[in-house]
Amino acid sequence: MKSQRGVGKAVSIVSTIFKFNPIMASLLPLLFVFAIQPWQVRSEQYNNIFILAGQSNMAGRGGVSETTATWDGVVPPESQPKASILRLNAKLEWVEAEEPLHADIDVTKTNGVGPGMAFANTILEKRPGFGVVGLVPCAIGGTNISEWERGKVHYTRMMKRVKASLQGGGGLQALLWYQGESDTLLLSDAQSYRTRLGKFFLDLRADLNSPLLPIVQVALASGEGPYIETVREAQLDMDLLNLRTVDAKGLPLGPDGLHLTTQAQVHLGQVMADAFLQFVPTSLPKNNVLPIHNGAPPTRPHNGASQIYMIPISITFLTIVSLTLL
Ligand SMILES: *[C@@H]1O[C@H](CO)[C@@H](O)[C@H](O)[C@H]1NC(C)=O
Repeated sequence: MKSQRGVGKAVSIVSTIFKFNPIMASLLPLLFVFAIQPWQVRSEQYNNIFILAGQSNMAGRGGVSETTATWDGVVPPESQPKASILRLNAKLEWVEAEEPLHADIDVTKTNGVGPGMAFANTILEKRPGFGVVGLVPCAIGGTNISEWERGKVHYTRMMKRVKASLQGGGGLQALLWYQGESDTLLLSDAQSYRTRLGKFFLDLRADLNSPLLPIVQVALASGEGPYIETVREAQLDMDLLNLRTVDAKGLPLGPDGLHLTTQAQVHLGQVMADAFLQFVPTSLPKNNVLPIHNGAPPTRPHNGASQIYMIPISITFLTIVSLTLL
């Protein structure tokens, strides 16, 4: 709005000058070209991209029966689809998102409700001008942290998917990470978790050229083995800039004692959204959240960008004014 008003003012002043000095007419097209720039950028439809990675509780097992390996198909109101929530499918196409988000990703398992849709709906509810949410599901059930190491198959596939998601002009917003249940089986794995997790976060940020990419991770609610507390300590102690940790301990689990129930997933998604929104100041005007290509906190690129767009307009305007006066 600000820049549009600025452009309007500049154009009206220039047309006044134009009446007095017809030579200035030659500069008008130049001004027009510069003035159009911010409009193009602003009117483009960006996806606010979120990576969903980890293991089964991120993929979602809410409503999946352990005995029959079927999903009950129940999607709670908080996880309903919306036109402004998209999902990158296995074919790397954007489609309207719906649970189970990982149905074509975590293909060897039965997927149910995860935190993703409740997360996206909460963001849109609390920040009506946020724009399109683009979810990139990458979680795979039963995977340990070593399998997510840089160069390993899940890491490589995730990178490929994230890079594909950015093709259409999207802006990376955050990594949502829920993993570690498989690293509670052996003490040695649990003890190595801290180092492996830290390296994973730093490698991912480095490979996406987003050194400050916001990360919302979940501290374990459950585990496959006895060393849950060791992994949780590593997660809760993780000290990284732009990292928020949501503690899932105590959330209701299914009969297997491992997977969050549908209601637990809804709650988790909402809390993760609140954690993410701590990165996004409330003072931003509606429809004004611009994408972040480098993963820095949203305010900086946005404010910087809108000022940068004014520079060519200002330069042209000042040139015209000074030429007129001389
Ligand atoms: C991780 O899982 C893979 C595949 O199941 C297994 O081969 C490997 O030993 C595990 N690594 C660790 C450190 O637990």
